[in-house]
Amino acid sequence: MMIGKWLDIGPATQIEAGTARTLPVEGADEIAVFHTMRGEFYALVNKCPHKAGPLSQGIIHGDSVSCPLHNWRISLKSGEALGDDKGCTPTIPLKLDNGRLYLLREAVIPGSTGEAAASGPATRAKAA
Ligand code: FES
Repeated sequence: MMIGKWLDIGPATQIEAGTARTLPVEGADEIAVFHTMRGEFYALVNKCPHKAGPLSQGIIHGDSVSCPLHNWRISLKSGEALGDDKGCTPTIPLKLDNGRLYLLREAVIPGSTGEAAASGPATRAKAA
């Protein structure tokens, strides 16, 4: 495991299936970490590609989330809008290792080389 390359954001058990949590990042966009009912985890910038709605507050269906503002469906895998809508939210590489979640540091804070600038997940966002 490459500790320096990955940010430890805490135990996977802190995010219930079907919900998301937000991760504030100093100097960068907030990140939403999703736990699907299938037991998969995904991290995306917490902004809808339409008008920046908070995706963390949307309803998770399979591996997509419905934006709470205008109901666009966003793929949690690719960040792309589904159906007829066009746009893409940046995704953050995430890995689950020994029950803990890690985000790729470079993707959280582009150009970062120092220690973690992200604090732990803070805000419980939404129960599906
Ligand atoms: S802001 Fe997400 S659908 Fe409009």
